[in-house]
Amino acid sequence: MSFGLGHGNPLDPAPGVVAIDHTELPPLPDTIMDDPESGRLDPRSWFANPSNRFELEIGSGKGAFLVQQAELQPDTNFLGIEWAGEFAAYTADRIRRRRENAGTHTNVRVLNSDAAQFLQWRCPDGIIDVLHLYFSDPWPKTKHHKKRVIQHQTLFDIWRCLKPGGELRVVTDHDDLWAWDLAHFDHWASDPDAKPLEVARPKIPVPPARIAAFLDSRETKPYELVGFDKPESAGEGELVGTNFERKVRVEGRSFNAGVLRKIDNA
Ligand SMILES: C[S@@+](CC[C@H](N)C(=O)[O-])C[C@H]1O[C@@H](n2cnc3c(N)ncnc32)[C@H](O)[C@@H]1O
Repeated sequence: MSFGLGHGNPLDPAPGVVAIDHTELPPLPDTIMDDPESGRLDPRSWFANPSNRFELEIGSGKGAFLVQQAELQPDTNFLGIEWAGEFAAYTADRIRRRRENAGTHTNVRVLNSDAAQFLQWRCPDGIIDVLHLYFSDPWPKTKHHKKRVIQHQTLFDIWRCLKPGGELRVVTDHDDLWAWDLAHFDHWASDPDAKPLEVARPKIPVPPARIAAFLDSRETKPYELVGFDKPESAGEGELVGTNFERKVRVEGRSFNAGVLRKIDNA
């Protein structure tokens, strides 16, 4: 299905320059099932200044947050991961035009892929400063809940890939998805200053055995749940300033937000 995002003009995602191309992310090796580490590849190497701070957006959609925030933080590298090909191409095309016209946005790139898979199989330990997850697809039908980004496996992979003190920032307009998120956070996070207790939790899958063993082995929870502070990209009356937020805000919807901060590597 085409969303007609180019308005009749072909999108140029600038593969190898803005969009990550297949030479930068080759297929997983045949050894992957026996050696899960063998597919690791450092995404910071995709940027001109790989030692800069590194932030990643899961499901970057049409790219408003990425484009705004990357300009505000030129010393941070931003990677948007978006699995819908046309949205990924649209965002990469926006970034390419800014690079060509203004010489800005050299610190932001786009990967057309499943972010959960990327985190699980590709991303090395301890390299991400902030993960942004804004207005994630709610997948309301029970049989589709397994497609939601927040799962025990994803929370494990995010924890592994974050630097100590690194953050997963979450905003959603969907109350059932937020209740699902909080039910998972109950397993993963202590709760020093957020107050989510009054939200009724749905039944969620139990953590897989390997992850349950990881959680049981720790003296503290892997994260703490803290309040959400707005990024600079948020305009007047906004929480983040994404395309989706701007679309639904006019309908008067309320939003839920929270931050999981990685406690340590122990
Ligand atoms: C409701 S849209 C929100 C987009 C953007 N964050 C915003 O607020 O405007 C959710 C986006 O996440 C993408 N998405 C969902 N699951 C994903 C995954 N596992 N990996 C990458 N992208 C994903 C969808 O294709 C969609 O573009």
